[in-house]
Amino acid sequence: VSRIAVLTSGGDSPGMNAAVRAVVRTGLYNGLEVYGVMRGYQGLIEDDLFKMESRSVANIIQRGGTILKTARCKEFYTPEGRKKGYDILAKRGIDGLVVIGGDGSFKGALALSKEYNIPCVGLAGTIDKDIVGTDFTIGFDTAVNTAIEAIDKIRDTADAHDRLFIVEVMGRDAGYIALHSGIATGAESILIPERKTDIEEVINSLVEKERRKKLVNIIVVAEGDEFGGANEVAKAVRARMPQIDARVCILGHIQRGGSPSAIDRLIASRMGYHAVESLLEGRHNVFVGIMNNRMNYVPLENIGKKKGTISEEWMKIVKILAS
Ligand code: F6P
Repeated sequence: VSRIAVLTSGGDSPGMNAAVRAVVRTGLYNGLEVYGVMRGYQGLIEDDLFKMESRSVANIIQRGGTILKTARCKEFYTPEGRKKGYDILAKRGIDGLVVIGGDGSFKGALALSKEYNIPCVGLAGTIDKDIVGTDFTIGFDTAVNTAIEAIDKIRDTADAHDRLFIVEVMGRDAGYIALHSGIATGAESILIPERKTDIEEVINSLVEKERRKKLVNIIVVAEGDEFGGANEVAKAVRARMPQIDARVCILGHIQRGGSPSAIDRLIASRMGYHAVESLLEGRHNVFVGIMNNRMNYVPLENIGKKKGTISEEWMKIVKILAS
């Protein structure tokens, strides 16, 4: 490997810049030429690449978003799209690719590496933490902290008005942001796709709390919850308890922005460094995760969504602490 490229793909996440910086600087340290690809696979297909130097990544470790920009590229799902991408890499003599993104982005990298024998390494950059084989994904910790800050503020106003708030957080099909932010803010209920939502139980618990004059309640709902999100939950609650002063707050894309937390900067730096080491050592077509504080290299073939892995222990803690 002598000339590598790095791209960010799919939804951005805080810490992607720190990862790009780590890839570029580790590559240069090892005597490689490093190219940045703009707008993920879209930019690759369009030959939107530029040569990166150490200064190209100065003053970005603390910035949210991604200086390389990102895109969800439909064309790269097709063999024709990938052929275009490969032709650009071949034309430029690039013999290694680092892909920072979620599982959709890894699927693209896997297909490319299979069809054209281009060594690829993935870094898990997504706020959703929905990838098997890593305890952390770049951006998750920051997103959870953003959600916590917002929910703490919501609790202030909920408390002042004796109101119920139903707060919807992101996470796509995974409930980790909801679980972590809900526990950390003392939410009275947390609804996640990994568990069946028993709306009757949620409402019965509100009725019981009302009887005890506990009127300030926060329900955190993952956007992917099977019941259909915060508005649906509010509808069901209002139907049974018309007297209740319920409000909905959908946190949305604020969870994707902001300066990355210490944890996200650290894991991004560590993963970025090991991504380049992996390419150099011939550990190809893997994604670089961290499990139990050790690097974990998962073949791209084995990537999968993390649904269903939330432990009973956490669910019990939620129940006991929220009563
Ligand atoms: O995967 C990250 C994520 O923010 C999810 O939590 C959310 O479902 C989705 O992306 C939103 O996508 P978009 O930015 O395209 O609206």
